[in-house]
Amino acid sequence: MITKQTIDKIMEATDIAEVIGDFVQLKKRGANFIGLSPFANEKTPSFTVSPTKGIFKDFSTGKGGSAVTFLMEHEKFTYPEALKWLAKKYNIEVEELHDKPQNIEAENRRENLMVVTSYAAKFFQEAMWDTAEGKSIGLSYFKERGFTTEIIKKFELGYSPDNWEAFTSSAISKGYRPEFLEESGLSVKRDNGTLYDRYRGRVMFPIHGFTGRVIAFGGRTLKTDKKVPKYVNSPESEIYHKSNVLYGLFFAKKGIRDEDNCYLVEGYADVLSVHQAGIENVVASSGTSLTVEQIRLIGRFTKNITILYDGDAAGIKAAIRGLDLILEEGMNVRVVTFPDGHDPDSYVREVGSTAFKSYIDQNKKDFILFKTSILLKEAGNDPIRRADVIREIVESIAKIPDSIKASVFIRECSHQLQIDERVLLTELNKMRLGKAKKDNPQQSSSSAPAGYEEMPPPDDPAFLAAMYGEEAVGTKPEADTTIPQEREVVRLLLLYGNRIINWDNIANTYIGPFMIAELSDVEFDNPACKAFVDIYKQQVENGVLPEEQFFIHHPDKQIVDMTVDLLTTRYTLSENWYEMHRIYVSDETDNMKATILGAIFHLKKHKVAKLLDKLRTDLQNAQNETDQDILMGQYLQMKKIEKYISDYLGSVILK
Ligand code: UTP
Ligand code: MN
Repeated sequence: MITKQTIDKIMEATDIAEVIGDFVQLKKRGANFIGLSPFANEKTPSFTVSPTKGIFKDFSTGKGGSAVTFLMEHEKFTYPEALKWLAKKYNIEVEELHDKPQNIEAENRRENLMVVTSYAAKFFQEAMWDTAEGKSIGLSYFKERGFTTEIIKKFELGYSPDNWEAFTSSAISKGYRPEFLEESGLSVKRDNGTLYDRYRGRVMFPIHGFTGRVIAFGGRTLKTDKKVPKYVNSPESEIYHKSNVLYGLFFAKKGIRDEDNCYLVEGYADVLSVHQAGIENVVASSGTSLTVEQIRLIGRFTKNITILYDGDAAGIKAAIRGLDLILEEGMNVRVVTFPDGHDPDSYVREVGSTAFKSYIDQNKKDFILFKTSILLKEAGNDPIRRADVIREIVESIAKIPDSIKASVFIRECSHQLQIDERVLLTELNKMRLGKAKKDNPQQSSSSAPAGYEEMPPPDDPAFLAAMYGEEAVGTKPEADTTIPQEREVVRLLLLYGNRIINWDNIANTYIGPFMIAELSDVEFDNPACKAFVDIYKQQVENGVLPEEQFFIHHPDKQIVDMTVDLLTTRYTLSENWYEMHRIYVSDETDNMKATILGAIFHLKKHKVAKLLDKLRTDLQNAQNETDQDILMGQYLQMKKIEKYISDYLGSVILK
């Protein structure tokens, strides 16, 4: 956990316009900045940044928040990732609280390793651009392959000198510790304990992590000697877990979001060529088969993956292997293969970017159909092998969580396989049943499929929420539990909580604690309002009066969303009730007492009305006279309270 002090320092240093300016073109407009929404396609700018408040608001999508929430929304960072990104931008050292001292040490080690890899990236770039050897060997290789200076610089490509110690000795002389040089894999230890360079005479591809820092390298040989490995890659380390990384993702994020699709290729060179051709939503699995973690990384941005692989048998096999995994994650997969002998890199260079794009559009096949045709071709006319194919295809379809989508595939495959749809469906149900039992062993004793059939469809929001916690609730369509009276109270707490009351009989107390005390008997129904008031109360109990900035930077997203919404929209309720009571004030602060007490008692009145409603229904349904009497008593009591509140409201407002 990042310490409060560090978070405060980060918040203090952060200039939201500067941060957002890294991603959105902003123009100054009065005290604010405006620009085109990065979350929607729009022609007139509706995206506003207020540097004084430290918030942004996107009026076309309704999104809003702080610099941190912007990074979380736009870059899909987690909360700590966003904080660390800002810390890096503003050169703030991050202090973390760890439950165990080992964790502090691990965190420091990770940071040290990143410092080393980032030094190495700089070293390899300088070795390529600023030395004779680098220019004539490394740079000319990239240029010959057709890479532009722009792309070479963007991906921070470099060259490792053909020398046993060039990098290691430079790093040691700069004070980098041998243990980190070794652990990062940049240097290798000899038997006598000295270090030498792992990469020698290779062109270097730095691998960037999710937040853009260099975490590893791939070094390609320039020799054609078959005995020399083509690529030497960084070993696994504390900062590089190959299975969690996709080459090029950092540079592809924006394109993936804009296009709502991610192209997946095999190699570093493919990423560079395709990117250079103007197709920026491309990442590489770096030669290994895809992992679930990699798929989930893509899934933060899009549900659509298009796999671009070599047309050769190995490429196709690799494609098929990755596919079932993607299906299980509920993603849509398409496959494009290239004419024999071509990979995306060679093909885009041969035909150019326009023809490349239209080739993709014309040749992309949905994965199930792609797989079916490949497997059928392999099986030929052998009936036993055809039966295996059918089973394998249905197995893939069974992995699709969306049952409607699955049934569409069943239909299409029944054509392709020339087999009755019902046969496939029966097979599909058998497999799903087997899977449900495996996932839920308690129910396996029952032979009836009931347990499975009762399972809600996996994309049901309530189900997702139950399975994955709050995170998934975000996918739920905004539940309409907004209660204007509750929101109004929250708005006043937010705006005026730290003002001093000086009303006739109450003086020298703050509005916030006063309101909290007055509201102690009120149950909030809206979750965000309830959370807000609870947090406010907690702070007051700790002797703190929370300010706007406290809520703008709160880790709970629903709090930030509501806060920004309240700060950027005009009154919700009060305008109406000012009118209702025929009072026209230019500013609600003109009559603070009416504003505050009015809001509190309107909320109470609303709650009482709700209770009265309930009592009325209960009365109608009451089974016997005793119940009726009790309910009637409660009802009359409530009526009295309602009248009292109404009278009070009238008197407050009119005074
Ligand atoms: P490729 O051989 O297709 O590499 O392997 P490439 O990047 O397209 O290279 P060029 O076009 O010949 O220059 C695909 C990916 O597999 C991994 C690398 O990530 C490579 O980009 N790979 C390949 C290795 O890690 N080690 C190897 O020896 C070969
Ligand atoms: Mn290649």
